[in-house]
Amino acid sequence: MDEKKMLAQKALGALGFAYAPYSKFRVAAALLAEDGRVFTGVNVENASYPAGICAERTAVSKAVSEGAVSFTAIAICGGKDGKVTDYCAPCGICRQVLREFCNPEKMTVMLVKTADDRKEFRLADLLPESFGPEFLEGEPG
Ligand code: THU
Repeated sequence: MDEKKMLAQKALGALGFAYAPYSKFRVAAALLAEDGRVFTGVNVENASYPAGICAERTAVSKAVSEGAVSFTAIAICGGKDGKVTDYCAPCGICRQVLREFCNPEKMTVMLVKTADDRKEFRLADLLPESFGPEFLEGEPG
């Protein structure tokens, strides 16, 4: 099976773990690290609403916590009550968080409806003229 379909399936497979009792909007992501590892993530909401975290950032946090700090692709799926009827795009904060750990020209952001129904973007197109770690190179500290 090709890698993109595998990544889509991993995201779809994680959707059941989303914790979204407030919005009922379940989201899951599968993040491919440069070393070949895949990290899934789901949205984790909270009774104190702003404390919730998106699926994409959950996946990034899991990956970084296990030593993966360079990514090449992410698959994202989501929908109300876990029904994936549309492509679910990553929010602005998640786009910026992904930006930290990839080459935006090469990073694939894949929106998934089914394992075979996918739409692909480059992060550079979803977050043009972005700010990244290289801007801070040479800063003290
Ligand atoms: N959500 C994500 O997990 N990822 C996104 O990029 C968009 C929004 C979640 C946050 C919240 O739990 C729910 O979707 C509704 O906003």
